[in-house]
Amino acid sequence: MSRLVVKNLSKVFSIGFLARRNVEAVKNISFEVKEKEIISLVGESGSGKSTTAKMLLRLIHPTSGKIVFEGKDIWNDIKTNQELKEFRRSLHAVFQDPFASFNPFYPVERTMWQAFRLMDKEYSKNEALELIKDSLVKVGLDPKDILGKYPHQISGGQKQRIMIARCWLLKPKFIIADEPTSMIDASSRGGIIKLLLKLREEQGTSIMFITHDLGLAYYVSDRILVMKEGRIVEDGNPDDVVLNPQHEYTKILVGSIPKLYRKLEDI
Ligand SMILES: Nc1ncnc2c1ncn2[C@@H]1O[C@H](COP(=O)(O)OP(=O)(O)OP(=O)(O)O)[C@@H](O)[C@H]1O
Ligand SMILES: [Mg+2]
Repeated sequence: MSRLVVKNLSKVFSIGFLARRNVEAVKNISFEVKEKEIISLVGESGSGKSTTAKMLLRLIHPTSGKIVFEGKDIWNDIKTNQELKEFRRSLHAVFQDPFASFNPFYPVERTMWQAFRLMDKEYSKNEALELIKDSLVKVGLDPKDILGKYPHQISGGQKQRIMIARCWLLKPKFIIADEPTSMIDASSRGGIIKLLLKLREEQGTSIMFITHDLGLAYYVSDRILVMKEGRIVEDGNPDDVVLNPQHEYTKILVGSIPKLYRKLEDI
């Protein structure tokens, strides 16, 4: 069974005050994601990637179409707070901008304490703290360096690792990572991607990577969807998409992959 089924999904934003104008951000897209599958959504700025992500996360309502996650329509079949809580735990985001995920007035571990609100099981404060420490260690952080610090006292790469540690606590079935590496340097970037791949290996998580970088998508994904102007113009396995692109736009993207793109292991 597919973990996620997206069918004829569209989003039209209506903008402007006196002269209203419609922006068709996503136009009738359909795709499925299986358990443990990694798919990349690649496309230029403004092509509708984040809008798609926000609809999948149930943050904005689609104009038309449907999204079925684990057999449930995310708008029609999720009704109670309990169901919504389970959905938020199962489908989780690691956002483009790690800075936006932290409140500057609280220590950074607050975002991890908040994860416990989404869990069904009750933990004592000590148990929860142990779990937080374990998950920090899992993502290569020393709890001593992190606990008690405020967001401005740690680096962008550390912030992203904390967001992934949060995923380790929640064990989501699906992670949407919107440009998860754009804020950080190349060496931390390889580390973050490896962590997400480890999460997939250990927990069977499905992952959607959203990126401009077709080279990166080629190395990490099982499948690549290329978006342009709100449409999916190409959908296939990485070899087909990169070595035998069908759409003109994909050919341009392939042409722009640096020839010496290093393999993930070397990043
Ligand atoms: N809340 C909104 N109101 C109006 N228009 C919006 C809104 N959010 C996005 N758009 C428009 O929808 C289109 C798609 O935006 P989106 O953020 O999905 O692009 P993207 O592919 O994620 O781009 P990037 O790679 O720059 O992050 C753009 O034209 C954008 O201006
Ligand atoms: Mg975006």
